[in-house]
Amino acid sequence: MTAPLADSTSANAPHGCPAGSDHDREVPEIDLLSPLTIRGVRFRNRIAMAPMCQYVARDGFADDWHLVHLGSRAAGGVSLVVVEATAVTADGRITAGDLGIWSEAHIEPLARIVRFVESQGAVAGIQLAHAGRKASSDLPWKGGAGLLTPEAGGWPVVGPSALPFDDGSPTPSALDKAGIDGVVAAFEAATRRALAAGFRVIEIHSAHGYLLHEFLSPLSNRRTDDYGGSLENRLRLPLRVAEAVRRIVPAELPFFVRISATDWTDDGWDVDQSVVYARRLKELGVDLIDVSSGGLVPKARIPVGKGYQVPLARKIRDEAGIATGAVGLITEAGHANEIVTGGDADLVFLARELLREPYWALKAQQELGAEPAWPISYGYAVKRRAK
Ligand SMILES: Cc1cc2nc3c(=O)[nH]c(=O)nc-3n(C[C@H](O)[C@H](O)[C@H](O)COP(=O)(O)O)c2cc1C
Repeated sequence: MTAPLADSTSANAPHGCPAGSDHDREVPEIDLLSPLTIRGVRFRNRIAMAPMCQYVARDGFADDWHLVHLGSRAAGGVSLVVVEATAVTADGRITAGDLGIWSEAHIEPLARIVRFVESQGAVAGIQLAHAGRKASSDLPWKGGAGLLTPEAGGWPVVGPSALPFDDGSPTPSALDKAGIDGVVAAFEAATRRALAAGFRVIEIHSAHGYLLHEFLSPLSNRRTDDYGGSLENRLRLPLRVAEAVRRIVPAELPFFVRISATDWTDDGWDVDQSVVYARRLKELGVDLIDVSSGGLVPKARIPVGKGYQVPLARKIRDEAGIATGAVGLITEAGHANEIVTGGDADLVFLARELLREPYWALKAQQELGAEPAWPISYGYAVKRRAK
């Protein structure tokens, strides 16, 4: 099921962007504060809250912390709030504190968050995830090491091949064909539950060295069956999941996929393979690639710096002709604006800067010369004080 972006292509792209999105219109100029429409969903600006694990859930259930954490960024003016990596199976959690969506009982606490986020004018999205061989980890503030034994709170982990992430991590058991089918079925069931909770953007996590990325990269996937070896075979499981999820997500709702565009290491997954992956995802009806990088192997040389992943989003946008999201060390309104006006990406995702400043989007509106869209209870008071 493929559908073009709601704002369609013109041959004379003002930014030279062939992605078939708003950028391709002559007038009006698109910037960070311009609304974006994908399928039937309108985003009030191009500022999105990236998914961020909180590691404080019990048995996968969202609670008051998740409501306030996510709700305050919606009140702070972003257009899209993406709920953290939410595990499609209990053993697919990175840590015992991850959110989960493996049972019907997980729906209602998430629906409560959706209702609040949407009441603030933001779109509620969720990232559906399986951590693969990086599951069963300790909490990051306790060091994040793999939990090897059930006594230590760990559980058995799975992956494409029996290769651990590093020396201190558990060796995964390689999924057999039935296990692979089970993963697809778990993503399908999770998607149905996410839609029942009211989410209007579904994002699949195929980045950061988790299960779907592990199938993509030749460094973690040494299978000799249909799911390993050639690029076509390594793409097979992530594409099966994407196809299955798109079939369930209604045509009027957007579907995003987060990828690691490169492993930042020799002989690994790289940006050229990512372009092929993005093209195939587009054919399946994926609307936007949320472009991150790394996470598959511990010893990658990552050139971390301001906007360091933006060129990856640009290349995928240009060469796969699909809308992209840029993420990673984007902290200033002017820089975020340039990413959109320059045609590098269609959405700008912020993570840590939104932890530091939940009202970042309102401040960006002010900095870029627009009237900040304060929540009604704040706006009249803040404006009166300023006079
Ligand atoms: C606390 C924290 C939790 C994160 N959890 C997730 C997650 O659940 N899913 C994901 O794809 N990325 C996750 N990330 C990565 C962010 O979404 C983002 O890609 C990364 O932090 C770079 O953006 P930034 O420089 O704006 O922080 C997390 C990052 C942080 C800081």
